Amino acid sequence: MFSFKQLSEKFLQYLNQYDYKKQPAELYDPVKYIMSIGGKRIRPLMCLAGYNLYKENVEQAFNAAMAIEVFHNFSLVHDDLMDAADKRRGLPSVHKKYNDNTAILSGDAMLIMSYQLLEMYPDNYLELTQLFSKTAIEVCEGQRMDMDFETQVQPEIDAYIQMIALKTSVLIACSLKMGALIGGASESEANHLYEFGKNMGIAFQIQDDLLDTFGDEEKVGKKIGGDILQKKKTYLYLKSLELLSMDESETLRVLYSDSTEKTGDELVDQVVQLFKISHVDVHAQELKLVYQQLAFSHLKALQLDEERKVPLMNFAKELLDRTH
Ligand code: IPE
Ligand code: IPE
Ligand code: MG
Ligand code: MG
Ligand code: MG
Repeated sequence: MFSFKQLSEKFLQYLNQYDYKKQPAELYDPVKYIMSIGGKRIRPLMCLAGYNLYKENVEQAFNAAMAIEVFHNFSLVHDDLMDAADKRRGLPSVHKKYNDNTAILSGDAMLIMSYQLLEMYPDNYLELTQLFSKTAIEVCEGQRMDMDFETQVQPEIDAYIQMIALKTSVLIACSLKMGALIGGASESEANHLYEFGKNMGIAFQIQDDLLDTFGDEEKVGKKIGGDILQKKKTYLYLKSLELLSMDESETLRVLYSDSTEKTGDELVDQVVQLFKISHVDVHAQELKLVYQQLAFSHLKALQLDEERKVPLMNFAKELLDRTH
């Protein structure tokens, strides 16, 4: 069994020598660009770790891990366009470096590339592509909900959880389950890994929302306050409305409405001030813990030696306290 560090080294070696198609350069250069400017690579690592719970020759799962990382990066290319986000991993996002049409088309090509990578698994092809397609369409549903929330005054917190489960956590869940299925795990084992990933993914997105507002721009590599400028109805916003006094929550609502005259840094500063008064960050940390515990209950249910589960558990803990 490999440590996460070993899995990461092995996968990065594979990724760095990966031979993308070259022509036309206007189509493939942006693909190489987004794939090569870093990222935590947590989804491919989850896929490899899921496989490695059952089998040792992890190279067998590289193409599936790559399929997931390419899909993830495709979703970021389109997400940055949709979120008007000009910075990704500390560098210009694809639509900024190239242009909008390039981001759309190179993103489309990446989505198709991800399916092609799954063709390398003829024995599992149907179950893998069924899971992948279910996941991909759910990500679209989540992204649609995320955008719709921008113009809704106060969606329910439950709807927010459903939205982040769809846009973010199902892909993490899928990564683990795919690895396990390729590794020959039973459906019930693979499903526990799926639920582990799904609950961890919810906590992961809550941390992403926290970092977007309270993180260090250098470390996060995205513009801090981007969610506020885009009027994203995150947990921070929705829970603050509950926690603040009537007057304060009305001020927050106005700041998020079209009637506000505040823009840019001034808008971000005033919203952050209200978030701080409400102590919503403490509530967000608690909510992360709830989902972390739920995730761990599924890890416990796996019929494996406890020591084999430790690396996944530690990795999950690290992710939820991450600063980038
Ligand atoms: C960013 O994902 C988008 C979310 C779903 C929160 P990551 O935080 O995994 O981004 P990279 O790949 O490490 O840059
Ligand atoms: C992204 O959510 C989810 C997907 C890309 C599917 P965010 O919009 O919060 O991700 P970041 O913060 O831009 O990385
Ligand atoms: Mg975004
Ligand atoms: Mg988004
Ligand atoms: Mg975000």
